Amino acid sequence: MSGPQARPVGDPVRAWRRLVDTAVLLDGFHTLKHAVRFGAEVPVAVTVDRAAALALADDLAPDVQDRLAGLLHEVPEETYRSLVARPHPTAVAALAVRPSRAAHLAALARTPRTTPVVVLDNPRNLGNAGAVIRLAAGFGATGVVTTGTLDPWHPTVVRGGAGLHFATAVERLSVADLPPGPLFALDPEGDDIRGLKLPDDAVLAFGSERSGLSAELRSRADHLLALPMRPQVSSYNLATSVAMTLYHWSAGAF
Ligand SMILES: C[S@@+](CC[C@H](N)C(=O)[O-])C[C@H]1O[C@@H](n2cnc3c(N)ncnc32)[C@H](O)[C@@H]1O
Repeated sequence: MSGPQARPVGDPVRAWRRLVDTAVLLDGFHTLKHAVRFGAEVPVAVTVDRAAALALADDLAPDVQDRLAGLLHEVPEETYRSLVARPHPTAVAALAVRPSRAAHLAALARTPRTTPVVVLDNPRNLGNAGAVIRLAAGFGATGVVTTGTLDPWHPTVVRGGAGLHFATAVERLSVADLPPGPLFALDPEGDDIRGLKLPDDAVLAFGSERSGLSAELRSRADHLLALPMRPQVSSYNLATSVAMTLYHWSAGAF
């Protein structure tokens, strides 16, 4: 295997235990790959099989292979298992420094904005939140804001987002503090989205899986928009609704 060898950064297990309470867990090769690609600061990364991890990098992520080679420390399988709650098939795990909230708030507030912000109003499902962050990263959205109690940096959300939290600004805010821009709230009772071009500075809000949009968000919305749906179907899944809406924005943006 070509590329640099692991740097002698001391004992990775001690570093892990020192950082784990405040850092973001990057669970699996693909999550680490995306995080590194989008500029995450990664103080410690471990794997059970360094050669296998670097072979994966050679195959799937040659752009970051050298950086992964510099980060990954091989540890015994039992050590790896003692560090993570749920072992990943790639047996790779790392810790990243959580990006600064102040920097994210500045990015979300910056105008003029060239891509939308996605708002999840009191989401309940960690997997949905991760899928939405992955979508937002893919479409180059400015950020994903959640309201309510769910932590958008929860390890399960980061795993669902495949490490793409580092490619967009992810923060939790109250409805009163949403970023500036016209607020388009998605609701099956709204006007057909197909009649409208979504502006680049749109704030696109989606309701909770259980109860839809909160009264507070609804009262602040400038427009209520519906995705086309055959009669007798009540609603779409939250993440698929975000996917359709971002696609609609992107199709009108060119
Ligand atoms: C699973 S749905 C919520 C269903 C909920 N029982 C309700 O009363 O709205 C989650 C969110 O996805 C979005 N959504 C789902 N289907 C939609 C549709 N046909 N049109 C617009 N938004 C939709 C909305 O933002 C909705 O709040």
